[in-house]
Amino acid sequence: MGHRLRVITLLSYLLALSSGISAQVAAAIAYAPTLEPCPAGTTLVREVAHTQTLSSHEADYVSGRRSHVLPRSWANYLRNVQASTRTSLPSYVDAILLGSYGKDALPTLGIATSGGGHRAAIFGAGVLNALDGRNKTSVHAGTGGLLQTATYLSGLSGGSWLVSSLAQANFPTLPDLVFGPANADGNGFGGWLTQIDLLQPGDATVTTAFVTELIEEIALKRTAGFPVTLADVWGRALSRHFVNGTTAANFFDVTIPHGAGTTLSSVANTSTFAAHAQPFPILVADSLTSRTTGQVVTEPGNAVPLTNPIYEFNIFEMGSFDPILGAFTPTKFLGSPGDSVCATGFDQLSFIEGVSSDLFNEFNTSAEALAASSVGPIIAALEVLFPQPGIRLDAAEIPNPFFGVSKATFPDSDQELLALVDGGEDGEVTPLQPLLVKARDVDTIIAIDAPADTPDNWTNGSSLIATQNRVKLFPSTYSFPPVPSSANTFVARNLTRRPTFFGCDSPSSRGDPLVIYLANGGPPLGEPPLTNTSTNQLQYPPDEVQAMMDEVFDVATQGIPIRTHGGEVKDPLWPACLACAVVDRARRDAGISRSGICKACLERYCWS
Ligand SMILES: *[C@@H]1O[C@H](CO)[C@@H](O)[C@H](O)[C@H]1NC(C)=O
Ligand SMILES: *[C@@H]1O[C@H](CO)[C@@H](O)[C@H](O)[C@H]1NC(C)=O
Ligand SMILES: *[C@@H]1O[C@H](CO)[C@@H](O)[C@H](O)[C@H]1NC(C)=O
Ligand SMILES: *[C@@H]1O[C@H](CO)[C@@H](O)[C@H](O)[C@H]1NC(C)=O
Ligand SMILES: *[C@@H]1O[C@H](CO)[C@@H](O)[C@H](O)[C@H]1NC(C)=O
Ligand SMILES: *[C@@H]1O[C@H](CO)[C@@H](O)[C@H](O)[C@H]1NC(C)=O
Ligand SMILES: *[C@@H]1O[C@H](CO)[C@@H](O)[C@H](O)[C@H]1NC(C)=O
Ligand SMILES: *[C@@H]1O[C@H](CO)[C@@H](O)[C@H](O)[C@H]1NC(C)=O
Repeated sequence: MGHRLRVITLLSYLLALSSGISAQVAAAIAYAPTLEPCPAGTTLVREVAHTQTLSSHEADYVSGRRSHVLPRSWANYLRNVQASTRTSLPSYVDAILLGSYGKDALPTLGIATSGGGHRAAIFGAGVLNALDGRNKTSVHAGTGGLLQTATYLSGLSGGSWLVSSLAQANFPTLPDLVFGPANADGNGFGGWLTQIDLLQPGDATVTTAFVTELIEEIALKRTAGFPVTLADVWGRALSRHFVNGTTAANFFDVTIPHGAGTTLSSVANTSTFAAHAQPFPILVADSLTSRTTGQVVTEPGNAVPLTNPIYEFNIFEMGSFDPILGAFTPTKFLGSPGDSVCATGFDQLSFIEGVSSDLFNEFNTSAEALAASSVGPIIAALEVLFPQPGIRLDAAEIPNPFFGVSKATFPDSDQELLALVDGGEDGEVTPLQPLLVKARDVDTIIAIDAPADTPDNWTNGSSLIATQNRVKLFPSTYSFPPVPSSANTFVARNLTRRPTFFGCDSPSSRGDPLVIYLANGGPPLGEPPLTNTSTNQLQYPPDEVQAMMDEVFDVATQGIPIRTHGGEVKDPLWPACLACAVVDRARRDAGISRSGICKACLERYCWS
């Protein structure tokens, strides 16, 4: 993000910092990790390359949610579908969702929400709102309540801003998340503040002071011995929008921490997480390694090979299920130099938001391109202020928790640092990988896909193609249903302009989930195009965001429009068809035949 901004010179930052970095601001103190002896019994690496297992914390979270929360969530959702549909659903839908086949036969739903800057964050928020059982309009439409049934929610880049801000703000409604609650104060979450540009919140003077402040806020992390890069500066900017502690009124107050100190691991302490009342959040980033231990496969036009590890960050662990690494480290001790000394406070949520959306390496195809970009002067300032020979300033640098792990296959096994970048840089812009992990047993996925692929900034399906290609590289770890192999097919068959189900007829031996695909491929019926804004747009007036979210509500609730004599209208059966898709894996596994409207629905919505 962030190309094509007005260029502010390096000189202005250095002048602003000429008195030396004081870095005694509250944010700098709260942002710096601390080093202490590790608590007795700490293990910093959990290997899963040979036996794929979840962390005990995640397993406990999921099982608590399944026992105490999901039975009621599924019953509520079912009631909403039934109330909105005149035709009755086959009895197996009720039976499965009401637990007649046991709670282990309830669907395990994951939702993945894509990258693509603010456009993708807003598109994702619009879809989640349409699935939210707390929104009466969504309940009335028959889609509300499904959000509450999800076990997992994954996000990357712009989608990571959505997923992480939602989790840490204690799972508010989507309008409260995006626009801020009516009673927002400086302590809780103040909304996304989209009206304020991420990197240029004012004129040149204001912007210079702002960026100078961001640089000061990372200084004590460097002093404590940790690498700092553009991802830290960027994360500190994102923190004002996607972490608690900032409102429009206190935006420029340099005496408050602006979300510094809020770590990913600390989200465990929000009351909704403690009550298992939100889907388990997962954020994704790519490895930028240029080392390799085998073949290299790259999706055409992408910066990062598909063969590079994909890292996930969750509240409990950071690491990768990719079999070339197959290891995790506790999130709360991320950044630790070794088994006896543990870092805490490295897992700043703002930093992880910055890692997941760090596209700056893409500017660095030539030194000139980087220098000419808006972040060129910030890079130059970092070079002068924090000399770190050999460090890539355009990537995020993390002390390697997996030093010496999986030596034969993990390309960074002998590296002191990991270089990480935006999770979509390998072409898999919708973060499906964590939901395909067999140990997670996700049987149904809602894939929300909103990258700018076409010249008009619509989606063309390439992200699902990248997932399909990557899964083929790791067949024993992941499985994914067949999708078209060309973006032309997605577009020509309108698969990006209507909900599409993939994998409807997979036998259980394939082990793949059923994927419910909702893409940003065009405006809904009869509406002007509002949701194909450029990824580079870093500022949105709230009324534009509201109009986009309202339009996405229609995208998520229209289904495949049906022709009537008066023209095309929303498919009145769509909510029922969605419910049919959601239970379809559970139906198959219980040995029941598809019947009634579910039979017709799947014929209509499945790609084969
Ligand atoms: C963020 O603020 C909300 C209130 O807006 C609060 O419920 C939540 O616990 C806070 N999150 C963190 C991580 O402190
Ligand atoms: C949660 O809060 C408790 C009490 O304030 C604190 O001791 C603990 O470290 C917190 N846990 C995390 C993961 O931040
Ligand atoms: C630009 O990329 C090269 C490698 O492609 C890397 O060595 C260099 O550190 C990068 N520049 C910055 C400022 O990070
Ligand atoms: C689809 O999008 C990808 C990624 O943005 C692009 O590289 C590709 O050329 C597009 N393909 C078609 C057929 O539009
Ligand atoms: C959005 O799509 C419309 C129709 O395809 C196109 O005319 C418009 O230029 C697009 N806007 C952007 C910002 O790409
Ligand atoms: C795709 O949608 C367009 C516009 O609604 C329609 O004219 C066309 O017939 C559709 N194509 C297919 C293959 O359904
Ligand atoms: C998106 O929209 C912007 C602004 O209208 C335009 O410059 C850009 O070329 C479009 N396409 C992509 C793929 O970003
Ligand atoms: C419900 O969603 C609609 C459609 O986006 C929105 O206009 C409305 O404000 C939402 N209501 C609540 C209470 O969240």
